Amino acid sequence: MTVTLGHVAVVGLGLIGCSWVKALRQAGCTTAVSGFDRNLDSMQQAQQLGIIDSYSEQLAEVVADADFIIVSVPIKAVRSVLEEIAPSLKHNAILTDVGSVKGSVASDVAAVLGAQFGRFVLGHPIAGSERSGVAAADADLYRRHKVIITPQPHTDTDALQQVVAAWQVAGAEVEQMDVVHHDEVLAATSHLPHLLSYNLVDTLASRHENKEIFHYAAGGFRDFTRIAASSPVMWRDIFSANREQILAVLDMFQQDLTQLRQHIEADDVTQVMGVLTRAKAARDHFSKILARRAYVEPMKTATISYLASAGRALSGQFRVPGDKSISHRSIMLGSLANGVTEVSGFLEGEDSLATLQAFRDMGVVIEGPHRGRVTIHGVGMHGLQPPPGSLYLGNSGTSMRLLAGLMAGQKFNVEMTGDESLSKRPMGRVADPLALMGANVDTADSGRPPVRIRGGSALRGIHYDLPMASAQVKSCLLLAGLYAEGETSVTEPAPTRDHTERMLKGFGYDVQVDGSTATVKGGGELTACDIDVPADISSAAFFMVAASIMPGSDITLEHVGINPTRIGVINILKAMGGNIELLNEREVGGEPVADIRIRSAQLKGIHIPEDQVPLAIDEFPSLFVAAACADGETVLTGAEELRVKESDRIQAMVDGLVTLGVDAKGTDDGAVIQGMGGDGQFGGGDIVTYHDHRIAMSFAVASLRTAEPIRILDCANVATSFPNFVELANGCGMHIEVVEEGATA
Ligand code: S3P
Repeated sequence: MTVTLGHVAVVGLGLIGCSWVKALRQAGCTTAVSGFDRNLDSMQQAQQLGIIDSYSEQLAEVVADADFIIVSVPIKAVRSVLEEIAPSLKHNAILTDVGSVKGSVASDVAAVLGAQFGRFVLGHPIAGSERSGVAAADADLYRRHKVIITPQPHTDTDALQQVVAAWQVAGAEVEQMDVVHHDEVLAATSHLPHLLSYNLVDTLASRHENKEIFHYAAGGFRDFTRIAASSPVMWRDIFSANREQILAVLDMFQQDLTQLRQHIEADDVTQVMGVLTRAKAARDHFSKILARRAYVEPMKTATISYLASAGRALSGQFRVPGDKSISHRSIMLGSLANGVTEVSGFLEGEDSLATLQAFRDMGVVIEGPHRGRVTIHGVGMHGLQPPPGSLYLGNSGTSMRLLAGLMAGQKFNVEMTGDESLSKRPMGRVADPLALMGANVDTADSGRPPVRIRGGSALRGIHYDLPMASAQVKSCLLLAGLYAEGETSVTEPAPTRDHTERMLKGFGYDVQVDGSTATVKGGGELTACDIDVPADISSAAFFMVAASIMPGSDITLEHVGINPTRIGVINILKAMGGNIELLNEREVGGEPVADIRIRSAQLKGIHIPEDQVPLAIDEFPSLFVAAACADGETVLTGAEELRVKESDRIQAMVDGLVTLGVDAKGTDDGAVIQGMGGDGQFGGGDIVTYHDHRIAMSFAVASLRTAEPIRILDCANVATSFPNFVELANGCGMHIEVVEEGATA
């Protein structure tokens, strides 16, 4: 990026201004840099360090020739600086500042330079350091930090562009917001914490027993009050300059503090736990943002690719993470039950965590997850509270579709949003039948998210013939049926996973299943129970295919759910000649479970029976890899649903296989794949996953038999369903290297 700023003047030679100018100099954006500070030493030092070329004790002289002026002084000093420099400003000079309150700077600029002055661009870098002053200046201070620019309607476009460019040169991520919003956000995220920290130290220090307090104060005190060592003058000015917004957020805080006090006084441990678990979840999420592993828009924050190369024969006995479908449902029903539900084996993947967070947002106290254990303090069928904002469901279609049914029965309004992939997925399939039940559901264009549901509608039971085999739609309607007048029944065209029906029964709710029709009656109650989530057969499938295609392999997957509506992958692999054995079959909490032993076998191509398609709906990406390694042709038909999953899985898999040298063709409702046979090897290449977790993992499996490394792009979403995939895969014989490419946004 070539940015030409000309002569730059810095007024105020502290860490913030000097670091920026250092970065600008290094990037060659300046022709000259002049500086001013009230402190002569700072000016001399800045010159010696080569941060500025010249200085003067006359502020007016420093800015007289400047094209780009950085005002980097304490908030309350801005006005007098402007008054002093106004008469000497060069025509068209651009000015900007770095203050953490924008409203007060905006008024200073308007008062001194005129209400329509467009050359001053208000800015605020969200960066700093414990160190201060010229000597601490660091050209990298802003790298990957946010800078907020708050343009006003009269701000000149070219001035705005130059300031944005100058921050980008320093490596900053520039965002724009309006002045008032900025000051509200900063009051909450920065000013209130500082105020509380100062106040707490003052409270404790002014008690006569303070010696004791400081003597024994360890980590908590130290961590909470670190910021009370900041500059009192600076903070006095900020508290004054942003008075209104600080008072607003302080009032809110005081209310919540009073409420927490009441919970403690009443010894209401569940409510106290609610505050603590919500806070911990939010803090953990924030830590992920800091580490750039945040769930919120993962595709934008981190780019993870896999470099996968040939592996060895697989061996070992291990357990893959918990079933995603059952994990979602355990949170939903546990939240609406009377009593406390204990879940073990919960999938700590991003999708099921999205459901968990949604219920926390609706006031349910949920402890964990910790090593797969979750404790849910149910609020009863009518105990959910309105969430503070939209429910963000990330990549998870199951969350959005099942929640749509539950939300239709609530008294409050809800908006549900998701990431880029979820935002493209069809929601009309749930919105339409919910509307028939009397729900008030809105979607964006052509039935896509966001989904908005108006609360307070009286639902009535309907009979619905599902136009497609979908457990999500079936479950959505049965869950809405819990809130409907009379009976709700759903008939499916082919059997789909029945975890909702089974779990409702586990929670003591009557569900009638008659052939392909499931029926519930509204108005019942759920009673809390314990849930042991088996390992997810959909995650196990990657290892079933891996062990099948890699000669000499012999692995055992423990405690895998083998619900008859989910075992298509076993049936299909067996039909292809796979060597799969179910051991130790048992029933756990209403779901059949087994250990599964898989040994390598030369697979043969088949025409996959269409009745197996809904039973293996999530496993086709890996089955395509199995087909590519088989002898002969494999034909898949009746699987058009694959085109509306997290990606168009037919296209994504066919394209990827073709890249690796396989003869594969997509059809409207499936694919035709010519197997490479026993000795065949994949060629290397770059695989586009469309951020789909199962596409990424399937090609990692393919790499076992690759001649050249395979680079699998955009794998961050593997964490939605299988957070420890790479660890388990490498542990049993695969060879996957994780490459992090940092931020793309
Ligand atoms: C799921 C149902 C299936 C499946 C999804 C989970 C569920 O979706 O693909 O991963 O938990 O009910 P459809 O209902 O859209 O087939």
